Amino acid sequence: KRKIIMDCDPGVDDAIALAYAAAHPEAFELLAVTSVTGNQTIDKVTRNALDLVSLYRLSIPVARGAETPLLRDPQPASDYHGANGLGNVEIPRSQEDVVEESAVFFMKKLISELPEGEKITLICTAPLTNVALLLKVFPEVKEKIQEILLMGGAVAGGNVTASAEFNIYEDPESARIVFRSGIPVVMCGLDATEKCALTASQVEKMCQSNNRIARFCGNMAGYSLANGNKYRGNVSIHDAVPFMYLTHPELFVAKKAVLDVECSDCASRGRTICDFRWWQHEESEENVVLMDADGARFQEYLIEAIYELGEK
Ligand code: BDR
Ligand code: CA
Repeated sequence: KRKIIMDCDPGVDDAIALAYAAAHPEAFELLAVTSVTGNQTIDKVTRNALDLVSLYRLSIPVARGAETPLLRDPQPASDYHGANGLGNVEIPRSQEDVVEESAVFFMKKLISELPEGEKITLICTAPLTNVALLLKVFPEVKEKIQEILLMGGAVAGGNVTASAEFNIYEDPESARIVFRSGIPVVMCGLDATEKCALTASQVEKMCQSNNRIARFCGNMAGYSLANGNKYRGNVSIHDAVPFMYLTHPELFVAKKAVLDVECSDCASRGRTICDFRWWQHEESEENVVLMDADGARFQEYLIEAIYELGEK
């Protein structure tokens, strides 16, 4: 069982990813959720993180993270995630508040408190600003981080520009810091995550369900389907992929690579560079990129988890 911190910007698919994690307590020991600006402003995504933790009946702390990417202005993705970040679906307000420390300090605290010999896994489903700051301010935490699994990037092509995927494009400099940190990274990019999508009829069925979590996830996904994804007929649940990779690695094709990102101001800013030339790989190089996924089994496991959580 892994000890996990989820760093996220909920976000329709972040919210569904957290539901998947919450449905699998045997695989994930969720220590905290940290928020970071991305899909919406830091105020909105932090509010959403608190409300989701309470909706899913997780008793875990939430810490508020970075308000802007390292160098550039944030560009919220309201078309895809709605003005409230959750596809304009309303959920009850949590009575809880964020912890006193900001995300970077709270992550550092949790990592320092780990029992001797234990490590943490970071699952990042948003721009990597918090994680980059953590690694720069407290480099000593690196040896206590087992792995960073992140949703971001692409080998073939982007979604926010022809070259770049949203989470990396928002803060390429932070992504570079993470890629070059020496910590093992699993890059769950669009090549795999776009295969991990719910169909319009699956979403419709969830919306009609009596199961409270299925209805909630269906309504959110329905928003993205109708707005951001209207030409595709399905809706990728990108952010569930890093969690699914841990519970069901057999669903994915993973390839070893040296990772970098284009940080200059050009048409390919934010493009991930995945170097597959084997002679570039050090003995110690453990980064991998997900190249493909079994979409049908992803759907099956995700839907099952969502209904299970709603029955708890
Ligand atoms: C990523 O960008 C965000 O809009 C989603 O939440 C996901 O993390 C997909 O490119
Ligand atoms: Ca996200």
